[in-house]
Amino acid sequence: MAYISDELFNEICSANNIIDYASSFMTLKKSGRNYMACCPFHNEKTPSFHIDSDKQLFHCFGCGASGNFVQLVMRLEGLDFQDAIKQLADRAGIVIPENGARQSDALTEKKNRIYEMNKAAARFFYDMLTDPERGRTGREYFARRRLTKKTIIRFGLGYSPDEFDILLRHLRSRGYKDDDIVEAGLAVTRNGKAYDKFRGRVMFPIINARGKIIGFGGRILGEDKLPNGARLAKYLNSPETPVFDKGSNLFALNLAKNSNERDIILCEGYMDVITVHQAGITNCVATLGTAITDRQAKLMLRYGNEILICYDMDEAGTKAALRAIDIITAAGGKARVIRITGAKDPDEYITKYGIAGFKKAIEKAMPSTEFRISLIKREYDINDTDGKIRFVEEVARVLTSVDDPVEVEAYIQKTAKDTGISDKSIYGKYMEIRGKTRRPAPARTREEYQRRELRRVNSDKPPEEKITSAVREAEKRALSLICRSRSLALKASRLIEPEEFSDKVYQDMARRFYEAARAGEDPDPAILLNEFSGEQDSENLAGAVFFNPETYGDEEKTLYDLIYTIKLNRLEARIKTEQDPQAIGRLLKERLQLDRDRAAWGTK
Ligand code: CTP
Ligand code: MN
Repeated sequence: MAYISDELFNEICSANNIIDYASSFMTLKKSGRNYMACCPFHNEKTPSFHIDSDKQLFHCFGCGASGNFVQLVMRLEGLDFQDAIKQLADRAGIVIPENGARQSDALTEKKNRIYEMNKAAARFFYDMLTDPERGRTGREYFARRRLTKKTIIRFGLGYSPDEFDILLRHLRSRGYKDDDIVEAGLAVTRNGKAYDKFRGRVMFPIINARGKIIGFGGRILGEDKLPNGARLAKYLNSPETPVFDKGSNLFALNLAKNSNERDIILCEGYMDVITVHQAGITNCVATLGTAITDRQAKLMLRYGNEILICYDMDEAGTKAALRAIDIITAAGGKARVIRITGAKDPDEYITKYGIAGFKKAIEKAMPSTEFRISLIKREYDINDTDGKIRFVEEVARVLTSVDDPVEVEAYIQKTAKDTGISDKSIYGKYMEIRGKTRRPAPARTREEYQRRELRRVNSDKPPEEKITSAVREAEKRALSLICRSRSLALKASRLIEPEEFSDKVYQDMARRFYEAARAGEDPDPAILLNEFSGEQDSENLAGAVFFNPETYGDEEKTLYDLIYTIKLNRLEARIKTEQDPQAIGRLLKERLQLDRDRAAWGTK
């Protein structure tokens, strides 16, 4: 994972102040050695999110979110490791040297070459659009769509002439090779011959949050239906390339992220976004020709409080809006729906009702639950008994995915009023469905988190290996001591095997600490945490170990006590479930031996 040397990683992290950085996302209060805030990763009213500014680690005692400085940047801004570290380097004015890229020089180089080609292509498309002769049809098209010159420049729009290989020749003349141009998605090959991918289309560059052009969308100039009944692809998008991942980027996010609005508006189409921006509303983005993903939802939630979905009002648009609501809610966010009644899409709505009309529609955006219920209502006739029953059941089902109990109750009351069925019965139905389909929301308290973690750890263990929360806590404390000093790690390595810990993350951590201690290294939590990057569960478990704020009078004795607890509990669990008398005898002997050994620990 880490592509930056450990030294550089440390340099970049310590050149930044984690508290300064985090302050722009949350209100931090100093408390002892740490800073505290309400957790940005789950809903809470009293702060359980801690930052240790010396160790540059964060940990939420509520939902368990945990990690180092870079992992915090990754989660808060939805960036990958490389972009997060780059972000911190930029903040501190550190230039990451080319050879800092240890893992994959080749990949980084390739990506940079594609960015360059995309930039050259965008410039070329723009020049074509403004070319008096070649660009006329493109300019006429944008004029018909009422785009101003300013808008065209702001979005870097362009035109790809309807010629075989005009862009290809241009890029070749700048030294790029056909293979690379094809890999960038700017050309395609047929029968071994390369030609331009985009021909005779108006061009929309897709730019990421860092301002790099990662791909293009190209629209035909007319209608997608041909007179003979055939259909043309209205939009053609760049294929997935090493820099273009359609599921983790958004059109116009580079502009929307600088808007001062509190929410983000999500549209379906490039043209919609552009028209909305041209109307002076700049917090608007769109997906890239595919359905919204979890990553995109999280990305938007970094920049906006709520997501206002502004999709077409037809059947397909409504379905897509429902899907978007699900994904945004599952990502921990809130969604509302802007209804653009009387127009087929936001673009047409603004043309018809003006900017003021659209602003009104934004203000009246419907909360997602109300939107979902309004759709159910259309499907059932609640004057009919059967329709009424099914309506209530569907509403109850929708409410099971609502986290806020007050909201649930409000809708239950409203449904009771609308149908004449008592709120008690509706509540009963809701509880019944909830019991069957409950999906876990983030834990709200430390106890709940620990209960769940224990359940997860135990879920695939045979009965004799299931552990108690006391043992799990002992393991966590023991590991936190082991990672505090090399000498404690060496001592532990002689007493307890990595395999004696109860799950893979803890086992890996023990193995890693022992290894480092034997190699004479002092453990560095922030660096070691990078090895547990990637999966949030592992990251959280590992982070919690490093974050253990407890201090112990005699660390060595405490460590021995903890190791003893772990070993004893394992033995006792096995003794309890063992059926074979001989085996029980052996285990009892082992226990006796453990007690004898314990007395000797630390004496030599
Ligand atoms: N789209 C696509 N491929 C198609 C059609 C649509 O990738 N063949 C994507 C594009 O990202 C497009 C979005 O879906 O922007 C919405 O489609 P649509 O509403 O048809 O397009 P608009 O952006 O509204 O374009 P226009 O108003 O020019 O028809
Ligand atoms: Mn449209």
